[in-house]
Amino acid sequence: MAAAVARPSVTDAVAGEPALVPPPTAGDVIRVTGGARLAGTVPVEGAKNSALKLMAAALLAPGRSVISNVPRITDIAIMAEVLRGLGCQVTICEPDATGPGHLVAGSPRASTVVIDVPPVPGCEPDYELVRRLRASICVLGPLLARCGRVRVAHPGGDAIGSRGLDMHVGGLARMGADITGEEGLVVASASRGLHGATIWLDFPSVGATENLVMAAVLADGVTEIDNAAREPEIVDICAMLTGMGAQIDGAGTATLRIEGVPELRPVEHATIGDRIVGGTWAFAAAMTCGDVTVRGVDPSFLEVALDKVATAGATVEASGDGFRVRMGRRPRAVDVVTLPFPGFATDLLPMAIGLAAVSEGASLVTENIFDGRFMFVEELLRLGADIRTDGHHAVVRGRERLVGAPVRATDIRAGAGLVIAGLCADGVTEIADVHHIDRGYPNYVADLCSLGVQVERCGG
Ligand code: EPU
Repeated sequence: MAAAVARPSVTDAVAGEPALVPPPTAGDVIRVTGGARLAGTVPVEGAKNSALKLMAAALLAPGRSVISNVPRITDIAIMAEVLRGLGCQVTICEPDATGPGHLVAGSPRASTVVIDVPPVPGCEPDYELVRRLRASICVLGPLLARCGRVRVAHPGGDAIGSRGLDMHVGGLARMGADITGEEGLVVASASRGLHGATIWLDFPSVGATENLVMAAVLADGVTEIDNAAREPEIVDICAMLTGMGAQIDGAGTATLRIEGVPELRPVEHATIGDRIVGGTWAFAAAMTCGDVTVRGVDPSFLEVALDKVATAGATVEASGDGFRVRMGRRPRAVDVVTLPFPGFATDLLPMAIGLAAVSEGASLVTENIFDGRFMFVEELLRLGADIRTDGHHAVVRGRERLVGAPVRATDIRAGAGLVIAGLCADGVTEIADVHHIDRGYPNYVADLCSLGVQVERCGG
């Protein structure tokens, strides 16, 4: 078995030292030798899409908040830099470190992030850092609530389609903010403070729900958000905010009621497990006729995804903090439709298409969240997959085997999905631009190797 080549560290290994955000490692490649099945147990750390927002939420209270079970990924290092630029002291404690950020709870492989927020944080996050990360827009709500004004760049993130901000901006305007756009910036002010409001979201946007909740917890009066997102990450941030003294009802439902309080206090909070990483392993097990036990993810976060894997022929056993997926046959084709939670997660769409590509029969896969999510399909075609897309639908006719070829990761999830597809291809598949995968999968190559397949990281 080929050994995994060490990746550059993405966090500061020594508590208290300034972190360096590594430059994008463009050109990095993962080489996959197809033909093996995944077998064994894999632990999963905290969710990227929760931890990043929890870090933004810390801005709401002066003092030291501690967030544990944080995955060791590039995006966390970037978010830490964003917060440092706002005057916070941020220490990312590696799993084996001791000190102020010793492990509070969660996976022993995860980091603990200690954030010391000054009495008055800065209100102009660094333009270039914000542009590297979609989640950085989540400083908008907390900074507006704390400082009464904010200038923040339009955020970056994956190339998976257009990603508007109208619901973030519209909701904050209802709460009394004046918001304008200038030269790639969102400029918001609320000189007389934010007030409670009734807000209807046209779509249950995860980011807009998070921003509006974080603004509302310190607003004057009651805010009601209807058609709110119900993702587990929303429940997680509401739990952290409640621990800080916020008054929130309805987390996990479509209606959130938030009664503003004058101030919040710092908190210690453990991030929920990453359902998308867990779901990736479930599909990987099914696609490779494997037997994988996942630890660290609540299986109720993945009900629809695990049901699809079971319909494809796998045996799925759920336990308190994980699940086991065993597949003893070539998968059967299943149709998949992505929807906001509790529907099938759009972030698992590349895995669903990968499964369909090697299944017996034809599958219809429908994407309802992002208009560019099928961009990676072109890469899967290079592996010999039979896929036709039309608008937001893809018809996939399964082939017994794919064929190894050079391909390119176009975003985090597509990259992870292509690696798994490579396991089902004859010969060698080289996936380029795997720095995308580093943004969301903390130990991908090492975990794959520990599950018995031949995968290695090579410099490009
Ligand atoms: N949208 C608007 N206007 C808005 C906000 C959203 O039109 O004001 C649209 C978006 O363009 C998109 C849809 O609504 O078409 C859904 O966007 P949402 O706001 O729900 O997504 P997000 O907050 O930008 C988060 C995750 C994504 C995940 C989606 C959906 C983070 C940092 N990102 O994005 O994760 O796919 O929710 O669950 O939390 C990933 O991790 O790889 C990833 C892309």
